[in-house]
Amino acid sequence: MAITANPTDTDTGIGTQDFEFLRKLVRSESGIELDQNHQYLVDSRLPPVARQYKLAGIGEVMRQLRRSRDKKLQVDVIDAMTTNETSFFRDQHPFEDLTEHVIPKIIEANPPGTPVTIWCAAASSGQEPYTLAMMINESFPELVRDRQIKIVATDLSRTMIKRTEEGRYSQFEVNRGLPASLLLDYFEQDGREWVIRQDLRDMIETSVVNLLEPWPTVPKCDLVLLRNVMIYFSPDTKREILRRIRAEVLRPGGYLMLGSSETLIGIDDNYEKHKMDKGSIYRPEAR
Ligand SMILES: C[S@@+](CC[C@H](N)C(=O)[O-])C[C@H]1O[C@@H](n2cnc3c(N)ncnc32)[C@H](O)[C@@H]1O
Repeated sequence: MAITANPTDTDTGIGTQDFEFLRKLVRSESGIELDQNHQYLVDSRLPPVARQYKLAGIGEVMRQLRRSRDKKLQVDVIDAMTTNETSFFRDQHPFEDLTEHVIPKIIEANPPGTPVTIWCAAASSGQEPYTLAMMINESFPELVRDRQIKIVATDLSRTMIKRTEEGRYSQFEVNRGLPASLLLDYFEQDGREWVIRQDLRDMIETSVVNLLEPWPTVPKCDLVLLRNVMIYFSPDTKREILRRIRAEVLRPGGYLMLGSSETLIGIDDNYEKHKMDKGSIYRPEAR
């Protein structure tokens, strides 16, 4: 039996010091907080990085990371450590509220010729911005026809932005939340996968944006979707991102939508919560 001199050379765990190093790196570069219970994420997510770099295992990834401070490796490790769980029409009711209440109000309030501008600030593999694009196409076809809609989809993960740009989904992914009629209307089958129509892809502007860093590709917006990402951040990080959304991104009277289980209580009281039919939405307080 082969005896491994350093047990951290395997794909089944890294040492405490390496984990501490990784934890600090991930926190400082992405804001994502890992705790001791997240060791298993390292075991499942870093082996593909080891294979990509032809390194012997995750211990070797860590050694390389610490030794060379290789920026590309660092970016790929952080990308691998992101959690990208998402689905079409995730939670369903927020999209009904947007169609029935929020978007009509934005159209009414915007001066003529001002496109409705929406930012999906942690778009993952694109299901969220494409849900918006389909929904707007269905309910507000005149906005699409007159090019009065702009959807900006960003994420820290280059892998996820590439997937959003490709708009290609597995059968499993389209089975999660996407009504069959919309699948048939908006996707083309390509082997075992489904590719979203080009005109829908053309509705989405993509870029890699780290919420901790400047947001040069993000325009002034009427609506920001910041869903299921702040759960990974510390209260201070959340506070700063929320402050910047108010100060840098939202047009006066703009809207902020969080994930269904997320709240601003105890984080930022400069937003007012507005109840809608099924869920709620936030707007910066008028002062
Ligand atoms: C759980 S997904 C949420 C996707 C989608 N908003 C939804 O609700 O279905 C969280 C996303 O946040 C992204 N993310 C994590 N930290 C980030 C950061 N600092 N800047 C931008 N995106 C980040 C991850 O890459 C991941 O794709």
